[in-house]
Parts: sequence; structure tokens; C-alpha cells
Amino acid sequence: MTSYFDRLANSWDANPMKVERARATAEQCRLTPLASRESLLDIGGGTGLLSLFLQGDFKTITIADTSSEMLRVAREKIAAAGIDNIRICLLQKDLSELTGSFSAIISLMTLHHIHDLDAFLGHAADLLNKHGTLMIADLYLDRDGSFHKHVADFQGHDGFDIDQLSQKLVNAGFAVRQVKPYYKISKTNRAGTEQEFPLFFMVAGKS
Ligand SMILES: C[S@@+](CC[C@H](N)C(=O)[O-])C[C@H]1O[C@@H](n2cnc3c(N)ncnc32)[C@H](O)[C@@H]1O
Repeated sequence: MTSYFDRLANSWDANPMKVERARATAEQCRLTPLASRESLLDIGGGTGLLSLFLQGDFKTITIADTSSEMLRVAREKIAAAGIDNIRICLLQKDLSELTGSFSAIISLMTLHHIHDLDAFLGHAADLLNKHGTLMIADLYLDRDGSFHKHVADFQGHDGFDIDQLSQKLVNAGFAVRQVKPYYKISKTNRAGTEQEFPLFFMVAGKS
């Protein structure tokens, strides 16, 4: 998947829906009660759209991603804006490469690209401090795979069944506090007609 996102990096921010989606997600993050806004980890933060909207809301933000090109775009935007509280971390494979402890972790449209959800959630739990919060913004279950139909070698998840995902969070040591729909992506489906794909915002704390 990394080379797929490397190819998209330069044009990523030119899609107004992606900017609007990040803005709406930042708003959900701001509305979420957190024990601390000291440090945020934005997993799969890509070109930094979400992190840049949240730049003033956290003392420090770390964007971690497996695409060097998405991160190059993020780095250029951060430098151009003279921002000094967002750092960038290129991952070779997964979150096990990160060290440190974060007050909150957020993921926007990244979880469905991660094959081993149990490993990911385990690493996320390890990286959160005692009262830390995990926020996941992603696709509800897309039963016929319409959302990723254009990606020939897509190997991720066609969205999520909320009950199944919640159970995985519980198994990884989280207590799910909230799940709600908050945004809809409009896209042309397999039949050539416009289809809406709802996104959920899930909030979980370490139990
Ligand atoms: C759909 S894009 C979303 C980017 C950004 N969150 C946004 O909404 O604009 C998914 C991002 O996840 C990254 N990604 C894919 N697998 C990853 C992994 N295992 N760990 C971290 N990032 C990953 C991709 O490189 C890409 O930047």
C-alpha cells in the first residue's frame, strides 16, 4: 500500500473532500474529553491535514506514517508554516517501531489499511499513557467493497462492523466510550451512481 500512497501524495490535498473530512475529524477530536492534551500521535497522518488542523490543540503532535512521500508533503507544509510542535516519524512497517508515551492517539482513514488489527491495537495500548485515549475515524462496513473498487491490489478492510471492532478494542485492553457517525464521503460506486459512505468516530480509553 505504501507505494500507492507515495504516488498520491502530491495531489492528496487538492481534493476538497479530504480537507473537509480532516476538518470535521479535528472538530470531533476537540469535542472529545481527554485527560490531557499534552501529546497526540496521528497514525497514518499522511500529508498532515488532520494534524495541522489540531496544531493549536495539543502541546506536541507526532505524525507517523509508512509513506515517505505523504510525509514529505507534510514536512514541507509544516516548515512553510513555521510550525515547531509537530514532528514526523517514518515507519518501515508498523507502530512497534515507535517509543514514548502519548496522551492521545488518533487515526483518520488509516485503520482499514492495517492488516493485523490486533497487533495494531496492542501497540496503540502500549503507546498510550495510563489515562490515554484512542480515537478512530474510519469507514462503516462497506459490504460490497465499493469504496476501494478502484484500488486493484487493495488488501485492507472494507470498513468495519462496529460490534466486531469494539470487541477487538476490548480484547486489547480498551473500554469503548463512544461511537457515532460524523461524516459522509460521496463517491461514484460500481454501478456508476453516487453513493454515500458514512464514517464513524470511535473513542476508547484504556480500561
Ligand atoms: C487513506 S490515507 C489517510 C491519510 C490521512 N489520515 C488523511 O485522512 O488525509 C491512509 C494513510 O495511512 C498510511 N498507512 C498505511 N498503512 C500504515 C501503517 N501500517 N502504519 C502507519 N500508516 C499507514 C498511508 O501511507 C496513508 O498516508
